[in-house]
Amino acid sequence: MSSLRLAELDADNLGAAVRIPPAVGEKAFVAPVVYSIAEAYVTPTAWPRVILDGDTVVGFVMANWDPENEIAAFRGGIWRLNVADEAKGRGVGRFAVEAVAADARRRGYDQITVLWDPAPDGPEQFYLRVGFEKTGELFGETVGTRKV
Ligand SMILES: CC(C)(COP(=O)(O)OP(=O)(O)OC[C@H]1O[C@@H](n2cnc3c(N)ncnc32)[C@H](O)[C@@H]1OP(=O)(O)O)[C@@H](O)C(=O)NCCC(=O)NCCS
Repeated sequence: MSSLRLAELDADNLGAAVRIPPAVGEKAFVAPVVYSIAEAYVTPTAWPRVILDGDTVVGFVMANWDPENEIAAFRGGIWRLNVADEAKGRGVGRFAVEAVAADARRRGYDQITVLWDPAPDGPEQFYLRVGFEKTGELFGETVGTRKV
């Protein structure tokens, strides 16, 4: 995909964003986008963005920029990442990670974190492939850290 970009949520892209899997009630390794958007509404440090290929919504990523958080793993990094089924395996997830890393650099961070479910069919291999190293565990999840 050559024309990937991030955009803020708006009235035009909201409908497509909330249709990205998983659906509400579906068992999955990531929350439904509608739930993440609700969390962003009540979390001033949240940074939700849709991922567009041209004008088509192909994913959703939410970072959290909270440098004073008492838990180091929550100070800055990826909170949620959902790629549309038809767009998986085409570099959308990697693009999102690089975009969050670039925003982190602009904000003066030197690393970002992400937490993932360590289940064998979870996103661990993806995160290791895009540069995260396992640096700990928190609430039963693996903490990954990547220099930016
Ligand atoms: C995990 C997820 C975000 C990956 O997004 P994606 O757009 O399919 O990933 P990309 O195409 O950018 O892949 C980047 C690299 O990771 C690798 N990769 C992606 N998924 C992988 C998997 N399940 N196992 C092994 N490698 C994987 C790709 O082969 C690629 O490697 P390459 O660049 O060396 O060729 C996506 O599958 C998804 O939304 N999954 C469901 C929700 C989820 O688990 N989100 C993360 C929760 S925090």
